[in-house]
Amino acid sequence: MTRTSPIPALTLLLNLLLFTLSTTALSTSPGCGQPLPDFLKRGWNGSSNRLSFKTHSGKTRTYLMHVPPTYSSSTPIGLVLSFHGKGRTAAYQEKLSKFSQPGINPQMLALYPEGLGKKWQGDPEASSDDVAFTLELLDTLERIFCLDRHRIFAAGKSNGGGFALNVLACHPIASQRIAAFGGVAGAYYQGDAGKGCEGRDVVMQSCKPGRKPVPVLEAHGTDDGVIGYDGGPRRGKCLPSVPRFMRAWGRRNGVGNANVTTGLFGNEVWRNEFGEGDLRGIGTHYRVKGKGHVWFDTNGTEDRGVFDVSAVIMEFFGRWSLDRTPGGKGSG
Ligand SMILES: *[C@@H]1O[C@H](CO)[C@@H](O)[C@H](O)[C@H]1NC(C)=O
Ligand SMILES: *[C@@H]1O[C@H](CO)[C@@H](O)[C@H](O)[C@H]1NC(C)=O
Ligand SMILES: *[C@@H]1O[C@H](CO)[C@@H](O)[C@H](O)[C@H]1NC(C)=O
Repeated sequence: MTRTSPIPALTLLLNLLLFTLSTTALSTSPGCGQPLPDFLKRGWNGSSNRLSFKTHSGKTRTYLMHVPPTYSSSTPIGLVLSFHGKGRTAAYQEKLSKFSQPGINPQMLALYPEGLGKKWQGDPEASSDDVAFTLELLDTLERIFCLDRHRIFAAGKSNGGGFALNVLACHPIASQRIAAFGGVAGAYYQGDAGKGCEGRDVVMQSCKPGRKPVPVLEAHGTDDGVIGYDGGPRRGKCLPSVPRFMRAWGRRNGVGNANVTTGLFGNEVWRNEFGEGDLRGIGTHYRVKGKGHVWFDTNGTEDRGVFDVSAVIMEFFGRWSLDRTPGGKGSG
């Protein structure tokens, strides 16, 4: 007769419990279990909260904060930051990116910050430390909301896209707190425009992400008359061509220069995916034929076409949370 010892089973259970505790501790924020402050309204688009705080450097910064009706302080959820283009506002960006609408973002928090002087770090004329602002903002939000720290994302249009993909994603700390980045018609300024500012061979400035690889999505119209697809000099700085910018990310991410190209919507949109196997699409570019400097949409503020870039960005973010990306926190 054999007796099964209860010890191994107990050890297993204990290990499981410890594992669960440690992973939970990693990914949930201090706001979990705290009631939502009274001044914060839940609701779908049109009911976002206008909030502000004073940064360590003494600047008052404001933002629109979307809290979905489904928010509960006992369930950690993700957050998407959406940065407006130069000269625009948080309210405009909310309408444009649709991240407060249930059809696009049924579950995550969404936040639309206002840039000082309506612009972001990375613009040739910007002087504010928007990275420091963003990191302070995340600290504040993690205390107020029950956040899943593996699911914090950043997207933006034009100057806001440049801030996401070319500033935050390149920053040693911000790139480790934000899981994935999306840029639409982004302005990815590099060094000063002297001679030899050809978009295809612009010298890329230093970019020092704190992890590798970094998931980056970029969508750009071939007829963009503001931030040209082929790059070149602009406002005293050099803009890389969009392929040059994406290939630089391919090299940085260790997945090389080459991409897999897929024609979508009857070849109106070409998708270029960098990376292979599990990393396929770690860098993804959408080349949108014949479109200008717009946030691509099927029936939106700036565009009525075939391609809804908000939906595509959300799908990308769904795939590349920190715990699911090699080299991210909590992975393996
Ligand atoms: C809210 O979303 C609806 C579509 O669901 C849209 O028609 C409307 O313009 C949006 N309002 C705002 C303020 O974003
Ligand atoms: C993707 O690969 C194709 C074929 O080599 C190339 O023409 C295109 O420029 C590449 N796209 C990017 C973004 O590098
Ligand atoms: C397109 O958007 C406009 C304005 O937001 C709205 O009135 C119209 O119903 C929308 N059309 C479709 C097909 O969704």
